[in-house]
Amino acid sequence: MNWILYIHLIAAMAWIGGSIFLFVLGITLRDKEQQHAIYPVIGPIFGYFEIVALIILLLSGTWLAYDSGLLNALAIGDHSKIVDLLRIKLWFVLLIIIASLLHFYIALKTNTKARSLLENLISRGSSLLIFFLNLVVVYYAILIRGIIH
Ligand code: HEM
Repeated sequence: MNWILYIHLIAAMAWIGGSIFLFVLGITLRDKEQQHAIYPVIGPIFGYFEIVALIILLLSGTWLAYDSGLLNALAIGDHSKIVDLLRIKLWFVLLIIIASLLHFYIALKTNTKARSLLENLISRGSSLLIFFLNLVVVYYAILIRGIIH
């Protein structure tokens, strides 16, 4: 039993599940009054929940890559199929981190205040981007695991 993979998977479920749930909430909760009542309350809880899940993902993922020798292969610039796949996955993970930092920054800045048009655009754009990037990362994760096992 690989406990770190188990933790990595639970963290991936929490991280992606959370983003899908908020995506659905964003589409279905159209009433402005309800939005003003709900978002400032669940926003920070959701934000910290997601940060913890992402940190666990990064730590456990790094350990998995180290343990399988992939991290070392990556560091020495190996270009085997599996290392190339991991490299692509990690570029997408980097984009997720950047989009998350941007999203978190706007969220902290405007949690109880009205947002400007630009802030709204960046906030919604980044969460949509994170949502789709997650799907790509999981696709690459499955390809990588298929080669390892
Ligand atoms: C948003 C961040 C991430 C997500 C959503 C994610 C998701 C996943 C998922 C779902 C799997 C299991 C795939 C399967 O069972 O078919 C997996 C496996 C794996 N992940 Fe990640 N991951 C993330 C970040 C990372 C990072 C940062 C690293 C390395 C630095 C990493 C390294 C790995 C490795 C090496 C495996 C295969 C483990 C094995 O089969 O033994 N992951 N990842």
